[in-house]
Amino acid sequence: MTTTRPLHFIRRGRRVTLHNVPPDRTLLDVLREDLHCTGTKEGCGEGDCGACTVVLGERMLREDGTAALEYRAINSCIRLAHSIDGMALWTVEDIAAADGTLHPAQEAMVQCHGSQCGFCTPGFVMSLFAMYQQRVCQGQAITRAVAQEDLSGNLCRCTGYRPILDAAQQMAALPPAPVDEAELLSKLELLAKELPGLSPDLIQNPTYHAPTTLPELLALRAARPQAQVVAGCTDVGLWVTKQHRQFAEVLDVTRAAELRRVVRTPGSLRIGAAVTLQDAYAALAADRPQLHGFAARFAGLPVRNSGTLGGNVANGSPIGDSMPLLIALGAQVVLASVRGERSLPLEDLYTGYRQNVMAPDELLAHIDVPLPAEGEFLRAYKISKRQDDDISAVCLVLNLRLQDGVVQQASIGAGGVAATPARAHQAEAALAGQPWTAASAHAAGEALQAQFQPISDMRASGAYRRTLLASLLQRYWLESQGLQQVSLDTLSIAEAA
Ligand SMILES: Cc1cc2nc3c(=O)[nH]c(=O)nc-3n(C[C@H](O)[C@H](O)[C@H](O)COP(=O)(O)OP(=O)(O)OC[C@H]3O[C@@H](n4cnc5c(N)ncnc54)[C@H](O)[C@@H]3O)c2cc1C
Ligand code: FES
Ligand code: FES
Repeated sequence: MTTTRPLHFIRRGRRVTLHNVPPDRTLLDVLREDLHCTGTKEGCGEGDCGACTVVLGERMLREDGTAALEYRAINSCIRLAHSIDGMALWTVEDIAAADGTLHPAQEAMVQCHGSQCGFCTPGFVMSLFAMYQQRVCQGQAITRAVAQEDLSGNLCRCTGYRPILDAAQQMAALPPAPVDEAELLSKLELLAKELPGLSPDLIQNPTYHAPTTLPELLALRAARPQAQVVAGCTDVGLWVTKQHRQFAEVLDVTRAAELRRVVRTPGSLRIGAAVTLQDAYAALAADRPQLHGFAARFAGLPVRNSGTLGGNVANGSPIGDSMPLLIALGAQVVLASVRGERSLPLEDLYTGYRQNVMAPDELLAHIDVPLPAEGEFLRAYKISKRQDDDISAVCLVLNLRLQDGVVQQASIGAGGVAATPARAHQAEAALAGQPWTAASAHAAGEALQAQFQPISDMRASGAYRRTLLASLLQRYWLESQGLQQVSLDTLSIAEAA
């Protein structure tokens, strides 16, 4: 007997309805094994290579109430199939015209010689397709930098990236082939109206729950504490594909409207826990543009398109990137349950390695981030083996409020140096009220090293991590003095223009 409701989505302009899809089945398995659409490839099975990239289209309402389609390239290998219920889906098999004419994303790859063995090509083509819809069709120019950023989640081991980046820039010169959005939007609207709402039957039965309001979500969290909570599934997906864990019941937080909003108040930014990393970092960088480069180094675009800020915080990995930043920004987390809400400083969420204070009926609902203060000097440093799509060995975010050369307030978040993301209390204390000088920066570096005794692992040795703490503080000091692009490798310092 089925225990999941049917899964519906729009593909090639038609509704697809699938029955008996287990709640923990991945989208890639549904595509390749159930639908026998093997154009989408499986490489790593963990969100790293982009071979499995597909594009989702979601009907969103703009602020003026009109509907728009939002396109997102995502990794189908770690995305749960039920999470695309009610959306449009494109795979590499879906974008050529009915008469076989290649889509500009495909034609440009042919013309620019962007494929050799071809294994990565379906994934690249789908990232290009999303870029085409989001940028080319909106009249935006594809610069080299934009192409690199949008393709940051796709790995090619044989062609080399130059021809693929050429293809990204070539698409705009080819005969246009935009999606008929009006028709698709009306189909998606119809689908949404016909999808069943939450019924008592669904609350009772093990299934994939994706309630659309926060009260419904919290009621289910209380009623079904055994259900695996998921958001973008970029962590949980790996538990399925790599650890072969099985979930008989899943509670998806990403459909709750309240959790998907970014709300600006006079003093802060309230980011819903289910806001994607891409959108959350865009909101943060709107107030603090220096975060753009840091944001672009969080995984690759398809991971940022699925993964959420709340998932990163709730997962609580000691090498996660958002937490050092949010600690340095003085963020508070809001936990919600049917019993009400409570708010606490983000660093107080964690009690140990991947352990936190959340009760079994609670969920992370929002993250409140104070807006920039007068005199704030913020820098976020991520040190990893690769520039793109890599996990931090150390992440250090420093935020000093300076007035007349004196540190009014010091707020420092650190990752990769303890069992949890941590506030650097000792360095903060060493700096508060002190003149901001080379000597106080040096003292703060020593305080950082005194507080943290990082471990050695495959990413870095403990000794290297400790050295980095002091070096990054030195780099921050130099940057605060008007120097930029301080290279720790070469000890060369480029003066600000
Ligand atoms: C290829 C790859 C690269 C990555 N690179 C980085 C990186 O550079 N930096 C980095 O920090 N991380 C990285 N990650 C990890 C991951 O992308 C992030 O941790 C992401 O933010 C998780 O969010 P999610 O929405 O996918 O969470 P999920 O995987 O859905 O959930 C993660 C955990 O949080 C819980 N959870 C989710 N939402 C809530 C909620 N609202 N309330 C309570 N609990 C909740 C879930 O139960 C689960 O325990 C990477 C992952 C991959 C696959
Ligand atoms: S198969 Fe590598 S990202 Fe999905
Ligand atoms: S063409 Fe072979 S991996 Fe990219």
